[in-house]
Amino acid sequence: MIDQAEQLRRLVQQNQNQSQPENAARVITVTSGTGGVGKSSMSVNLSLEFAKAGKRVIILDADFGLANIEVMLGIRPEYSLADLMFGGKSLREVITSGPENVGFISGGSGIHELSKLTRDQITNLTRRLTELDELADVIIVDTGAGITDSVMEFVIASSEVLLVVTPEPTSITDAYALLKTLNKNEAFSKEHTKISMIANRVTEESDGKDLYNKLNVVVAKFLDFELGYLGAVPQDTMMSKAIIRQQPILLSAPNSVAAKAIRNLSARLNGMPEPQQSGRKGIAQLFSNLIKARNKQK
Ligand SMILES: Nc1ncnc2c1ncn2[C@@H]1O[C@H](COP(=O)(O)OP(=O)(O)O)[C@@H](O)[C@H]1O
Ligand SMILES: [Mg+2]
Repeated sequence: MIDQAEQLRRLVQQNQNQSQPENAARVITVTSGTGGVGKSSMSVNLSLEFAKAGKRVIILDADFGLANIEVMLGIRPEYSLADLMFGGKSLREVITSGPENVGFISGGSGIHELSKLTRDQITNLTRRLTELDELADVIIVDTGAGITDSVMEFVIASSEVLLVVTPEPTSITDAYALLKTLNKNEAFSKEHTKISMIANRVTEESDGKDLYNKLNVVVAKFLDFELGYLGAVPQDTMMSKAIIRQQPILLSAPNSVAAKAIRNLSARLNGMPEPQQSGRKGIAQLFSNLIKARNKQK
């Protein structure tokens, strides 16, 4: 029989283990200045590549109102993060399994309602997210587009951010506007948050690098930090066909040019050293920062 003291000792030990950074998942936040540039497509396909490399991957859909990842994966989640926060659902119940065992969590209205949590609900959410950190090696967060408080908070709280840009002029100017707003926010730290650009829907591979150089020059000059460059994905009709088929391009058309390009991006991302100064903080820490940011606004 375990006595109470022993039970307590185990609990404390468990909690200590939970706060150890090696249990924290690698969180990658995907964002953009304008919508419709390929954030969700990238999130889904990069996740599949991580999964193929043997990683346990979860996609968290933080784009409120849009259900496009579900469509892309051909799944229908029953519950969302909001059910975990308010509806007494367990972590397992809000994770839906997709192709290659990629897990999916719909943010639902949960992200919106983070500021409504009571202290007990915060404790519960943090505990569940700590579980999630242990369950996953990689968590990909697909955010909404544009300069909203929610997107800013996610980016600021993340140590790795992928910024998706297309050659469309509005995509570039809106990406710059997002970075500019971010830079003005006193909670943003260029040391903590490493932002890398993905050029999507390019005609030539070299167009991607040109696009990056163009954006990075103004960022370096006016915002005083450096963007990373992850690579380019060409315009490919197989990409939209994949959505109609409800099967990610890496599975439905693995030999297409876009699929090949995504595999290259993924290899780079996989081999990329994670941001060092901050270390790996995980999803529980990220949400704890989000909740703090929201409560400050109140
Ligand atoms: N490289 C590409 N080539 C062709 N179509 C693309 C490409 N990337 C994305 N698309 C299409 O653009 C649309 C928006 O993509 P999506 O991933 O939903 O963007 P977001 O999540 O940024 O709104 C989808 O119909 C998708 O098929
Ligand atoms: Mg999307």
